[in-house]
Amino acid sequence: MRMYDLIEKKKRGQHLSEDEIRYIISGYLEDTIPDYQMAAFLMAVYFQGMSKEEIFALTDVMVKSGDVISLDHISGIKVDKHSTGGVGDKTSIVLLPLMAASGMKASKMSGRGLGHTGGTIDKLESIPGFNTSLTNKEMTTFVNSIGFAINGQTPNLVPADKKLYALRDVTATVDHLALIASSIMSKKLASGADYILLDVKIGSGAFVKNIEEGIELSKIMIDIGDSFNKQVATVLSNMDEPLGEAVGNSLEIIESVETLKGKGPKSLTNLCLVLNGVLMYLTGLQNTIEEGVIASKRILRSGAPWEKFVQFVKAQNGDVKAITYTSLLDKASKVIPVTSESAGYVGSINAEAIGKAALLAGAGRETKEDKIDPSAGIICKKHVGDSVKEGELVAIIHTNKEETKAIEDLVLSAYHIQSNQASKIPSVFGVVTKEGYIPIEGLEN
Ligand code: URA
Repeated sequence: MRMYDLIEKKKRGQHLSEDEIRYIISGYLEDTIPDYQMAAFLMAVYFQGMSKEEIFALTDVMVKSGDVISLDHISGIKVDKHSTGGVGDKTSIVLLPLMAASGMKASKMSGRGLGHTGGTIDKLESIPGFNTSLTNKEMTTFVNSIGFAINGQTPNLVPADKKLYALRDVTATVDHLALIASSIMSKKLASGADYILLDVKIGSGAFVKNIEEGIELSKIMIDIGDSFNKQVATVLSNMDEPLGEAVGNSLEIIESVETLKGKGPKSLTNLCLVLNGVLMYLTGLQNTIEEGVIASKRILRSGAPWEKFVQFVKAQNGDVKAITYTSLLDKASKVIPVTSESAGYVGSINAEAIGKAALLAGAGRETKEDKIDPSAGIICKKHVGDSVKEGELVAIIHTNKEETKAIEDLVLSAYHIQSNQASKIPSVFGVVTKEGYIPIEGLEN
């Protein structure tokens, strides 16, 4: 086989066999296929697409490129959750305790933030002492006793995706549905759970720009799951503005704590209730998604998820006092109000620009080596559809940086103020299961 011929074949829109896909992926991992040939192949895929069989084969080869985790030593209903990534997305920190309190088990691996999106591991590490390098034995013990644990990603989980993703990132080939689906699903399949819930972010701050694309991506991922005997569902949620109010590590922990205590922002609370409701339906704990959401509300109100969160922080060596009294968490030396220069209504908020402003404030890293400031970030006080007066507070910057003008300008430019009232954007658009797309309207309230 020659890589040149396989690029040619895909360029002409022809079907590749499983052996040919295996040849490409293993050759790329072993460095016998160079970046320039792989880049040409990815661009051919971008324009010609892949058949279902090709996508299944690509996913399978990627799964087998590294460790495949067995969860046999964990008892009960084993679930996993993944988000396609967004600004202010602290969903896992609220959802996993809620899932555990609902009778599910999750052994979750999460990543660190890079660029304008944050990572769950960085957020958790803003709790003093919190350990995200658990041994396999510790993970198993905590998942069996508490219901969940969150650890940093093992380095050898789907190495083919790591290498491919880095190349896609610099060759404008990230936003292709077949490539996104195989990338996400290979990591979830290698993580070993039986039920997989995917939070597909839709909007200006996400890879997926509209609901139709979200449904198409969801169907591909559900079909991949099916071919591996795994139950998969997706929730299509809004990323046309940051999720909740807080963007930044300890600020997001504070918001998560408030949400677990039933006092969080409606958008984050609703999304977590829907995600948990869908999981309860998928796993057979409830008969319908609607009953799952109702049960999730009752469970959140009972306080059990908050208790689970406290047990989790304690088990992973975090300072329980700092989550009980969140004023003990690191604080930034500067708290700067950002006020509107005009009156009107918030028409849109550029989530990516808010993410970048948080990064400039110190909350993120531009390169893997950068150190993050746990106390830094942005609080968005105004949301799409809200009215604003001239001079009224729209956001607050938390930073230790000397120079803050560029951060203030970026936050202000992220807010588009218009004269007519924009309608509020729901936090969740709908759910995709094997049965198809179900709009979620009405379930949220
Ligand atoms: N998230 C992933 O893990 N992979 C993609 O390709 C896109 C989003």
